[in-house]
Amino acid sequence: MNWWQHGVVYQIYPRSFQDSNNDGIGDLQGLISRLDYLNDGTPDSLGIDAIWLSPVYPSPMLDLGYDICDYQAIDPVFGTLADFDQLLQQAHQRDIRIILDLVANHTSDQHPWFIDSCQPGSSKADWYLWHDGNTCPNNWQACFGGSGWSWHPVRKAWYFHSFLPQQPDLNWRHPEVQQAIQAVMEFWLARGVDGFRLDVVNLFYKARDLQNNPTDWLKPARPYDRQRHIHDRDQPEMHELLKQMRSWVDQYPDRMMVGEIFIADSDDASLPASYCGNGDELHLAFNLAFLRAPFSARAFRAVIHQWIDLLGHENWPNYTLSNHDIKRHISRYAAHSDRTQAEQPPHKHSLERARLLAMLLLTLRGTPFLYYGEEIGMPEQPVSLPQRQDPVGKRYWPFHPGRDGCRRPMMWQIPNTFSSAASWLPERAIEGTSVTDQSHDPDSLLSWYRHLIWLRKRTPALYRGKLKLIGSPDEVLAYERCEQPHRLLVLLNFSSQPQPVNLHHHAVMRCLANSHASAAPAYRDGSLLLEPLQALILEINPDFPQRASVAP
Ligand code: GLC
Ligand code: CA
Repeated sequence: MNWWQHGVVYQIYPRSFQDSNNDGIGDLQGLISRLDYLNDGTPDSLGIDAIWLSPVYPSPMLDLGYDICDYQAIDPVFGTLADFDQLLQQAHQRDIRIILDLVANHTSDQHPWFIDSCQPGSSKADWYLWHDGNTCPNNWQACFGGSGWSWHPVRKAWYFHSFLPQQPDLNWRHPEVQQAIQAVMEFWLARGVDGFRLDVVNLFYKARDLQNNPTDWLKPARPYDRQRHIHDRDQPEMHELLKQMRSWVDQYPDRMMVGEIFIADSDDASLPASYCGNGDELHLAFNLAFLRAPFSARAFRAVIHQWIDLLGHENWPNYTLSNHDIKRHISRYAAHSDRTQAEQPPHKHSLERARLLAMLLLTLRGTPFLYYGEEIGMPEQPVSLPQRQDPVGKRYWPFHPGRDGCRRPMMWQIPNTFSSAASWLPERAIEGTSVTDQSHDPDSLLSWYRHLIWLRKRTPALYRGKLKLIGSPDEVLAYERCEQPHRLLVLLNFSSQPQPVNLHHHAVMRCLANSHASAAPAYRDGSLLLEPLQALILEINPDFPQRASVAP
């Protein structure tokens, strides 16, 4: 089994993890100084197996690093290549892998490739998506607002950008573009990085004939979301390209690619899985369906069911609850009183929901992706207009809060030791929501994450065992994870009511994890009463009848 299948991945937004040189911005040396927190080889640390590092390449930072102007260097704000090598070496020493974020659908307009491409007669004339002519060629939109086409005054032509005008899209049909990105990947693979997270990988190709996307004018959404993106993404050529990219990566042992498939709610749910091919395209395609699921057992069960079905036998699942583009899940699923009070400690129910979801994420069959700070329950904290950094939040004020709220500095301590200078996004301390507050409290959310991660690590049934969703009351999500001789039963009560479950065919041997430490599971005549929002892992007798069921 591969590390990217059994390991736990932790996403770090580098600007916000740890500052080492007092400029208020997180950097590589800062991250190195926190590696022991992530995994020092003992259950006193979080115990993660890999870091997905959001972009650290040189960038004008208009999209905070997702606009790259040099793929083979480190932005001075984060450090140097030598710092990066040190990070790799120090991480590997602790059995932590490093996955780099590779943004290859577009570059920055400051990238020498684009600057060159703008010049008449350039040898890179076709490296980007240029269109000659006086009028804008079609109705394709930029995801960050406005038309996807901008006029270039020097080249006197239109160019396409899926995001900001300062993020021109590369022309992936050009063999030299493919070779250039292959060289970039090999540069990092040879340095020792363990894999790539491929940004918006389904956007690389656009239809040659530039047809308009169909538009639903009545849909109450941003212009981008009113369109069906059948011509500006998900073109069939992508599968061939991914097979090729896979062969570049597979030349190096033990490396991987996880792709972000950029889709809207209304899109076909089978798209992400399709980019795994028959085990010969992406190693993992992000499953972002939990990010959209309401807090209910039924909704989460449906996502899991569908995802397993779509992936088939060749491909490996993954799950995630939060990332740098979306409201943090503790706030998405907050008890009502928390929604307006982002500076208060989370309500008991919000915390209990977070504990339940942590168990879900860390007991499913599939790679869990955590987002920095979720382990201490960092909430979403909206950022006021003058302090906003995210282009989406600036452009769509007051309709879209933007993405700064989930990118605030990691709360190490109160007052925060993230930086001794004012941090790049303002900080607002919340009592109890810091690593120092939670580290030695056995009932804290951080201790819960540590417990679950280390339990997973030493329990093959959890990291690779079979998963069987089992019938249960509507409000309870129940499944077994089995690998001989272990049979584990996970019970998650999503409701705020107690739920009786009848364990008739199970003989419980012991409880391995209980979100409600003070409420020991009480069995009577084969039946168990789950507390509101209680989450349990029970070890059951493997010799009992195989036909499992859990009934109300
Ligand atoms: C992806 C990233 C997002 C970025 C966008 C453009 O969706 O996750 O943060 O803004 O691509 O690169
Ligand atoms: Ca710094």
